[in-house]
Amino acid sequence: MTRLTNKRILLGVTGGIAAYKSAELIRRMQDEGADVRVVMTAAAQEFITPLTLQALSGHPVATTLLDAETESVMGHIELARWADLILIAPASADFIARIAGGQGDDLLTTLCLAADGAMAIAPAMNQAMWRNPATARNVVYIRTKGFLIFGPDEGLQACGEVGPGRLLDIEGLVDAVAGVFPSQALRGRHVVITAGPTREAIDPVRFISNHSSGKQGYALASAARDAEARVTLISGPTQLEAPDRVTRIDVISADDMYHAAIAAIDDCDIFIGVAAVADYKPVLPADQKIKKSDAPSNRSITIELIENSDIIAAVAGHPERPYTVGFAAETQDVVQYARGKLDKKNLDMIVANDVSGSDRGFNSENNQTTVLYRAGIDVREEALPLMSKGNVARRIIELIVEQTGATQMAALSEASS
Ligand code: PMT
Repeated sequence: MTRLTNKRILLGVTGGIAAYKSAELIRRMQDEGADVRVVMTAAAQEFITPLTLQALSGHPVATTLLDAETESVMGHIELARWADLILIAPASADFIARIAGGQGDDLLTTLCLAADGAMAIAPAMNQAMWRNPATARNVVYIRTKGFLIFGPDEGLQACGEVGPGRLLDIEGLVDAVAGVFPSQALRGRHVVITAGPTREAIDPVRFISNHSSGKQGYALASAARDAEARVTLISGPTQLEAPDRVTRIDVISADDMYHAAIAAIDDCDIFIGVAAVADYKPVLPADQKIKKSDAPSNRSITIELIENSDIIAAVAGHPERPYTVGFAAETQDVVQYARGKLDKKNLDMIVANDVSGSDRGFNSENNQTTVLYRAGIDVREEALPLMSKGNVARRIIELIVEQTGATQMAALSEASS
């Protein structure tokens, strides 16, 4: 299998002399198994024609936001979501400034705004433009937004000057693209993920629940699938579609989720508990809808609650426990509380999730997390900036790959000594 088999790459080409290199880049990514579609800015078309890139990619090249013909083949939002990676190569100083400014004034900037997957730029420009503080500031800013930055190289430039700003060479770019996908790293592993909320019945029409949308858990399922794991997603009620090539088991209550998780353990290598499981459920849900009484309107009623079983603690306590990763949603002392749960629930890794703002955590597109994981007798911490749930998921999968590889090697050397 090649390094980009089944990967869908959207190549954005912007205006610059290095635009001609996109032709070779398409070919090389295809050699590695990728399906490549191309979007060009108006400036890019001054350097290389859409027809050339259409012939090479085998797909119509999209150039404008309001082109009925290309929109009918695949709409621009659909195109943004189709891609496993949006790669802008070459990325001009002007384009980087426009995405840093959050602009959506042409097709390619709009796609970047609409995308929720991995995004990378390969800058190419004159060395003075690259060194300009405005460009440097824009690059730093988009990096914090989750963009990967490939290059640039240093050397003789098309304008005759020497310095940093050359497009990374094509093999270097293909390697960098392959590195985005922790390809095959989880091949042969079974990853079980819980996601979404649970609902605890009060009566046949009412329940206790929370605001989890399932987005973070589903993003992890996709990232684990991209690393070639077999993925089972145990999902509470959400509005989301199951990711392709992932087995979804639908559950409603914490009890349902508990039974589905325990049933999956024997055959599970990595367990990731992202679900916001209700801590309590009504002791005795009513068989019939609870009626409003005729008594005065300020009458109070009491619902007695009992604690639900802790799913992840049960998984981590299993004699043949999988590598077990939890999440902890907190509004204050986030890392400190998460560390307490890492110990109390006997986890290998926990993702401390700051849910104090409306732009992160429950039901938002982004998450602000710190990952804590055991490394021998130490607990290491990696703080991630506010970023899309897809990017959080990919980094967590990378860390799990690193840690489970390390755990396996330690077990092997223990067994052989
Ligand atoms: O779904 P989204 O809208 O994308 O939002 C994502 C999220 C905020 C729900 C997610 O990122 C997150 O932080 N999930 C954990 C929510 C939480 O509050 O967990 P907790 O602190 O109650 O529990 C800690 C861990 O124990 C979690 O892994 C949880 O799944 C697990 N748990 C908790 C209770 C229980 N009875 N069984 C469990 O397995």
